[in-house]
Amino acid sequence: MLEVHKAYDLPCLPSDNPYLNDGWRPSDTEWTASTPDLQVIGDIPKDLNGVYLRNGHNQIHASIGKYHPFDGDGMLHGMHFANGTATYRNRFVRTTGFMAEEAAGESLWPGIIEPRRAVRRGWGSIGAMKDNAGTDVKVHAGRALAAMSQCSEPYRLDPVTLDTLGPDPAWARALGDRGICSHYQVDEHTKEMMFFNFGEHAPYLNYGVISPENKLVHYEPIDLPHATWPHDLGMSEHYCVIHDLSMFFEPEALKKGQHRLKFHRDRPARFGVIPRFGTSRDVKWFEGMPCYILHLANTYEVGDEIVMDGAIQTNPVPDLSALPKEGYARMHALLSMDLQETRMHRWRFNMVTGQTTEEDLDDEVTEFSMVNGQVKGRRNRYVYNALMKPNWQVVGLKKYDWQTGKTQRWETPAGCFVSETPFAARDGGVDEDDGYLVTFMTNLNTGRGECAIFDARDITPGPICRIILPHHIPMGAHTVWTPAAALQGVAA
Ligand SMILES: [Fe+2]
Repeated sequence: MLEVHKAYDLPCLPSDNPYLNDGWRPSDTEWTASTPDLQVIGDIPKDLNGVYLRNGHNQIHASIGKYHPFDGDGMLHGMHFANGTATYRNRFVRTTGFMAEEAAGESLWPGIIEPRRAVRRGWGSIGAMKDNAGTDVKVHAGRALAAMSQCSEPYRLDPVTLDTLGPDPAWARALGDRGICSHYQVDEHTKEMMFFNFGEHAPYLNYGVISPENKLVHYEPIDLPHATWPHDLGMSEHYCVIHDLSMFFEPEALKKGQHRLKFHRDRPARFGVIPRFGTSRDVKWFEGMPCYILHLANTYEVGDEIVMDGAIQTNPVPDLSALPKEGYARMHALLSMDLQETRMHRWRFNMVTGQTTEEDLDDEVTEFSMVNGQVKGRRNRYVYNALMKPNWQVVGLKKYDWQTGKTQRWETPAGCFVSETPFAARDGGVDEDDGYLVTFMTNLNTGRGECAIFDARDITPGPICRIILPHHIPMGAHTVWTPAAALQGVAA
């Protein structure tokens, strides 16, 4: 089957904004496409069964003010694997804001860098954005859940058809206008989902737990001295780690409604270790070197310690003084992980002594870590990272083996960029790396996206299978692999 679900005009194009061109150019069509009508190079493994979902920002309308790559309409791309067959779908996340702009035929909300242009109430921690739901995607309680980095209503979608089902009917309203921030964490062993949200007024952060039955069973305000700007949440077997980092909006400017992100170089990063069902009083705070963190790899417990691995940034706001105020050079610098001094790092929080121990794990710029879902929150051996180039281009994969200290790498051909690449266990797989890596690839040489499958045990030869998509797909945001067993009861 090769079927166009819907084609869109994209009034945002043409544009001189580099984040709307080349690898960032939005898709204009929603497709449903299945093998054997999809071209396949190699064989789709028969023991790869489940769905790979990728979220990302796919702007339709010309923006109000300057467009930032975190602003665009959310679009899910999914590849559903079943017994050696595959079906690709892509669909917009039809949020309230998406439908309002579709009806109006134009943008109604500004993006993250020009909230002062807002003329109506919006979503996100800054209260001015569209609820684009284009950052993160996880599968919990049989449904995909999409949300944006700046907090938005939790949107449920069918994880196979990608039909938008709406804000979660069970608990979205209980969160008021805060919603949830991207990087909610699902514990595959207990089926619980831990999340947080943040805002500019007290309580500056809330922490919560959704039960396996999709009920909000825990929701607690966390005491913080001022508004903070976290992005991820550590999750171990019994604890979560809340981030109060050294980069946040200047508090005095914020009181006047101005948003000036500043890296406070002398202010230690703070990490709050909270029992899974703890309250603010139970949080044990640790300090670390001043930093910002986008994404963690894993968090787990060893003896008295909570170990947290992730990508540290020790220069998250690079010096912009020499750059012109107009144009895109400043945005480019703020999205350049090399300038931000991004590298894999390990924090150890000793619950007895209160001490933090830190070490770098690598000096290469890598990000978007993924681990086998079965070891998320438990001690892991392997991590699969993205090789990053400036402009957030993912130009390869790097596999870390913490036990041997060895790494493997694979780099994309010129003009190709892969996505965050999760591990997918082989049916019956036993070892932690006994399975596949699955990713979507933007291919500027052919103008058609691809889904690439790697043998996770050895990524160095490159993909063992490539499924050619019927259209271009832009570079994206976060992804998740969900095994077939977790989709039972979900209609295909
Ligand atoms: Fe993220």
